[in-house]
Amino acid sequence: MLAGKNILLIIGGGIAAFKSLDLIRRLRERGATVTPVLTRAAEEFVTPLSVSALSGAKLYRDLFDLTDEAEMGHIQLSRSADLVVIAPATADLMAKMAQGLASDLASTLLLATDTRVLVAPAMNVRMWQHPATQRNIATLKSDGVDFVGPNDGDMACGEFGPGRMAEPLEIVAAIEIALDAGTAPGSLSGSLSGPLSGRRVLVTSGPTHEPIDPVRYIANRSSGAQGTAIARALVALGAEVIFVTGPADIARPDGVTVVAVETAAEMLEAVQNALPVEVAIFAAAVADWRVVGAGTSKIKKVKGALPVFEFAENPDILATVAQMRAGRPRLVVGFAAETDDVIVNATAKRLRKGCDWIVANDVSPETGIMGGSENAVTLISDSGAEDWPRMGKDAVAERLALRISEALG
Ligand code: CTP
Repeated sequence: MLAGKNILLIIGGGIAAFKSLDLIRRLRERGATVTPVLTRAAEEFVTPLSVSALSGAKLYRDLFDLTDEAEMGHIQLSRSADLVVIAPATADLMAKMAQGLASDLASTLLLATDTRVLVAPAMNVRMWQHPATQRNIATLKSDGVDFVGPNDGDMACGEFGPGRMAEPLEIVAAIEIALDAGTAPGSLSGSLSGPLSGRRVLVTSGPTHEPIDPVRYIANRSSGAQGTAIARALVALGAEVIFVTGPADIARPDGVTVVAVETAAEMLEAVQNALPVEVAIFAAAVADWRVVGAGTSKIKKVKGALPVFEFAENPDILATVAQMRAGRPRLVVGFAAETDDVIVNATAKRLRKGCDWIVANDVSPETGIMGGSENAVTLISDSGAEDWPRMGKDAVAERLALRISEALG
């Protein structure tokens, strides 16, 4: 994965800079080339000599080094890399990035680059929590910048909390994910050291829209709330989540790779493109039928004649994946929305579809579950049916995510 890749590593000024020496070693062990850039402040913490000796490559230190500018301009330097990594990234460097300042070599490279950027922040807890820093982080995330860490822990300044730079191996794992063209820039954030770190999980969510003609469609009442909550809970445990969603109004979860689709056929294609994954969770309310011959012309009203539609059955996405002979995810989870004989129907559905678990719920109108914020589910697996108490959809999602991480071991 890392062999032959060129990583431009910007080392910011902070006590965590010493860990970037280990990061260089780990990257080179895996066959990557590391081109280091030291900020002036970083030189207070690590020496240029140790960095260039470990990297075995030319070290860049100062924007106004005329020889370097002649040899390799900063634009070329910033674009020749496969990935730009900032470790440690100080509050100051992130503020410059968010503002688009170019006042030294590091910030100039960051402004000039068209390469994906991964940031490993490290700073004092209060600086991390300061609204200014959080504002800058939000800006950078919406610009498509990826983050790894910071982690909670004891800090060099004697305080405890978020602000410790991610460990070198965690940064290596994040670099591998960021180098994977299948993940969207900006989809990485937070700690990678959760129980699902390094696990690739697919979640389908929301309704599908099946066109009748270019202006009309058939839909259902799914809000996408449960699928969105599940994706969030998985990200919180460190999973890499591919979120395939039909048209839903709800805010998309942070830190996932979003694939937006409209129809069941598009959802199936997106799911197949996302494979292989270790776990696949099918929370979408997929339309069972589509209108045959939904063309490009709007159907006009004709006096005295009602339109007649012919329907075709949509592919069953869950069953298609659950019954794959090769490359089937280790764990396939489906949902069953039932109004009668919930357990009997959902148990039969699990066998018919071939999935490992079914999350069954009673969507009778009097339960208020469909479109509501709470859910009462029964988890059905090969070891039987387990009723969960009624709880918020977020809590159901967290419990399910934990069960998944236990099942993967
Ligand atoms: N599903 C799917 N593709 C479809 C239909 C359903 O992936 N074309 C998935 C859903 O995401 C869900 C499960 O299958 O995980 C639900 O199965 P389904 O047979 O649609 O059950 P219900 O919606 O409960 O409907 P019915 O009782 O009519 O079977």
